[in-house]
Amino acid sequence: MIRLEGVTKLYGTVKAVENLSININGGEVCVLIGPSGCGKTTTLRMINHLIGPTSGQIFVNGQDISQVRPERLRQSIGYAIQSVGLFPHMTVGVNISVVPELLHWEKERIARRVEELLALVGLEPREYIGKYPNQLSGGEAQRIGVARALSADPPILLMDEPFGAVDPLTRERLQVQFIDIQKKLKKTVILVTHDLDEAIRLADRIAIMASGRLVQYDTPEAILSKPADKFVHDFIGTDRALKRLSRIGIENFAKATPSIGLDASIEEAQSVCKRCRWVWVVDKDKRLIGWIDKTSLDEAASVVEAVVTIDRDAIAITSGATLKEALSRMLSQGLNNIPVVDNRGRITGEITLGDIEAATKETEV
Ligand SMILES: Nc1ncnc2c1ncn2[C@@H]1O[C@H](COP(=O)(O)OP(=O)(O)O)[C@@H](O)[C@H]1O
Ligand SMILES: [Mg+2]
Repeated sequence: MIRLEGVTKLYGTVKAVENLSININGGEVCVLIGPSGCGKTTTLRMINHLIGPTSGQIFVNGQDISQVRPERLRQSIGYAIQSVGLFPHMTVGVNISVVPELLHWEKERIARRVEELLALVGLEPREYIGKYPNQLSGGEAQRIGVARALSADPPILLMDEPFGAVDPLTRERLQVQFIDIQKKLKKTVILVTHDLDEAIRLADRIAIMASGRLVQYDTPEAILSKPADKFVHDFIGTDRALKRLSRIGIENFAKATPSIGLDASIEEAQSVCKRCRWVWVVDKDKRLIGWIDKTSLDEAASVVEAVVTIDRDAIAITSGATLKEALSRMLSQGLNNIPVVDNRGRITGEITLGDIEAATKETEV
């Protein structure tokens, strides 16, 4: 889908990019990573034909892009930049419409597309369409940036540190959402980041760059288990086993767990608790609200009285999460056993520290 052959970009004597050859398959997420100044942004800008290479060739869909009009090329490429770059005096709706307007889409089609994209990035269209960029949080602005890059439904998406300017929690949410969207859309994506955890989480393949050169290009698993050289080894750091956990979903490790309703009788609760020390408690919609310790049942008059309520968002983990997230949740909460819930908060199982330990052994290379 995208192929660079011996691409070099010089700025005076600075080799921003040096003899870069790389092939990005259609429908895959390639993450470019490396220290600041290693040539990531320059590479994206060349693929988008904002700048030309000093030497070498770039092919998009088999076509040498130096032979294609840049405007035509850019119709097949969405570009989301780090600083988001929303036009401050335009509403969210108008910002997203810019490219479809340039392509002379009909008004109705544009309106439909804007709504569809806002919904896709998880923002309620009616609430957001008329807002101005200064009325958005950092995370919301970045989502609008992504929506805008997707507006004309380009098969290729270039993203330059798209989740750079937000707090870690928002960043994690945006990453989960990106994975979700990519599952649906199957775009060919080149995403730049300097955050290795983000790369491992999002990439089908990671390209590690240093001083304008490509030092390793492989799957996250391969890079973690077989770093090509000392630079990559040092770049990855010491906790490779932990990092690998962020490639593994919890679904195969979570186990079914008993739960009881708030309206259950003490006797029912005691019988469920027979084999375990405690049990999860759910409301009438099966949403997790707390747990009961077996010993507290002896004195309590009802389940309602015995239940210890919990902050579900802080303690439970959602079905799509990774073992790494489950582990950090356990560590931060001091629990060696956490519940798994679906996106409506209904309990689907639980996962233990032991399950995670077993998983790290299984995946050892
Ligand atoms: N327009 C430019 N003029 C001169 N030097 C540039 C220009 N753009 C980038 N560079 C240099 O090229 C190198 C790579 O930059 P860049 O691609 O922006 O790195 P990254 O995105 O990986 O941080 C850096 O040394 C940078 O200073
Ligand atoms: Mg950059």
